[in-house]
Amino acid sequence: MSASSPSSASVSSASVSPDSPHNAPAAPAAPAGSSLARDAVRALRSSQIREVANAGFGVADVLPFWFGESDRTTPSFIREAAAQALTRGDTFYTHNLGIAPLREALARYVSALHGPTSADNIAVTSAGVNALMLAAQLVVGAGDRVVAVTPLWPNLVEIPKILGASVETVSLGYGERGWTLDLDALLAALAPGTRMLMINSPNNPTGWVMTRDEQQAVLAHCRRHGIWIVADEVYERLYYGEAGELAAPSFLDLASRDERLICVNSFSKAWLMTGWRLGWMVAPRTLMDDLGKLVEYNTSCAPSFVQQAGIVAVEQGEASTRALVADLRASRDHLAAALARLPGVDVKVPHGAMYLFFRLAGAERSLDLCKSLVREAGLGLAPGSAFGPQGEGFVRWCYACDPARLDAGVERLARYLERGADQQGAR
Ligand SMILES: Cc1ncc(COP(=O)(O)O)c(C=O)c1O
Repeated sequence: MSASSPSSASVSSASVSPDSPHNAPAAPAAPAGSSLARDAVRALRSSQIREVANAGFGVADVLPFWFGESDRTTPSFIREAAAQALTRGDTFYTHNLGIAPLREALARYVSALHGPTSADNIAVTSAGVNALMLAAQLVVGAGDRVVAVTPLWPNLVEIPKILGASVETVSLGYGERGWTLDLDALLAALAPGTRMLMINSPNNPTGWVMTRDEQQAVLAHCRRHGIWIVADEVYERLYYGEAGELAAPSFLDLASRDERLICVNSFSKAWLMTGWRLGWMVAPRTLMDDLGKLVEYNTSCAPSFVQQAGIVAVEQGEASTRALVADLRASRDHLAAALARLPGVDVKVPHGAMYLFFRLAGAERSLDLCKSLVREAGLGLAPGSAFGPQGEGFVRWCYACDPARLDAGVERLARYLERGADQQGAR
């Protein structure tokens, strides 16, 4: 039974007058402490990263590496563009799909990276997470079957469930080469009748990057069976490939713009704009009228002065994005080398995103371990189980910060592991 459906204990209609709205039958009272939300909403997983952070309340000195964001502020030329837009009075609603100059700037940006793309295929959204929700609202409904590749940032798995869809997961494997995809297992899971594939590459949390051959095979299969692909490519620029490669392999490199593909992107990662809530999607133009309606009923539009800053980010931000990626690559290598020297750590160096997702002795119950790390060592890491059961045994460390802070964090982890070894030795 739905939590909001009337129960047999509801107020008797005989006791109220039917002609006054103020006397409408009272909704049944919820048992103390229980939620009146729909079953699907109550069944959503809550954030385990938040749970670890809560365990650290009251701990004076915590080094936080648990969230997926850099410790740097947005570059000043982008902040100034927003300030100027505000000073000009750019404070009004915009078109549902975004202001035309931003859609055109994004079309040029996407075209340069992935081949010809029209502004008619671009919609501006209130960051990547809103783009994911809109994409799901466009194509899935109650009872639909969705497939997702995990370990995965939980939002991609939970969003379709809000809409009443069921989500089947296919796990990446972990071995000598780090995280890899079992392509046959994924294709088998994408059985006829599947409505949508949710796939994120470069991947949060593992840093796994899907190869072009894998994308080609998945695209061909999904075309054959009419399955929508929602590709979350928000980390596409945080890619550490061969010199000269500016972005990770993208489904946009392979697909036409008017087939069943929605590519989600964001200003949060490549331009350090997490708090601005600005993103976009590339989608078939035949979806755009319906997408406009959904944007209207979700957010109406992204903030106008934020969109103005987005134009400046896209048009003038290339040098700062490249510098950021160079720094992230150095931080990744620095942290991976330091962690590899610790006993009980099994770390591989991934080619994308901004995380090391490594196996750690004692992390078989990673949530408990991460709570203990924050309380006893002042070290904030994300538990692998936050990204699905396939992540158990691992922890995630976001390395988008100053190398000196990474060193201080490694030092704390080393001392914590030593204390654990001493305690075992003393037993
Ligand atoms: C895989 C993935 N997709 C999407 C997002 C959404 O980011 P935002 O909503 O800030 O654009 C994130 C944020 O961490 C992410 O890790």
